[in-house]
Amino acid sequence: MPSATKPAPIAPAELERLRQLATIAAEHSYSPYSGFRVGAALLLTNGTIVTGCNVENASYRLTSCAEQAAIARAVTEHGPDIRLHAVAVANLNDAASMPCGACRQTLAEFGSDSTLILYPGEGGRPEQTTLGELLPNAFRGEFIQKN
Ligand code: THU
Repeated sequence: MPSATKPAPIAPAELERLRQLATIAAEHSYSPYSGFRVGAALLLTNGTIVTGCNVENASYRLTSCAEQAAIARAVTEHGPDIRLHAVAVANLNDAASMPCGACRQTLAEFGSDSTLILYPGEGGRPEQTTLGELLPNAFRGEFIQKN
């Protein structure tokens, strides 16, 4: 079983930038049904940061999570070879919420050893972990047999 490697540290200024951008993204959230405003900021290994927010729909199951929106945007803007260095997730509610299972799998596709930083609302203490810790032994594309 492959074990997650230790992610490279992130400079404090970079962490602060990620927090700010994830929070701005959360402020843009379209979440009239849950009122749960989430923003994600992806730090790519090419040094750029790409953000996304959750976008809900009256047909609830069509909702897109912030992490998924950010990944779709990152691939659109930077191409299929993107790799994640870090993922910051901010929500404007009180507790730092963990990414859902679907988002863990979506993020792991692009770097399961990336750092994950979870920011609760205003002034709350961030929690730091890795994607590999949250989703050990993720399903990987190498197992798919190609014709
Ligand atoms: N949500 C996210 O954006 N990311 C997650 O990982 C979990 C949930 C959003 C979806 C929905 O708009 C709201 O939070 C409540 O579930």
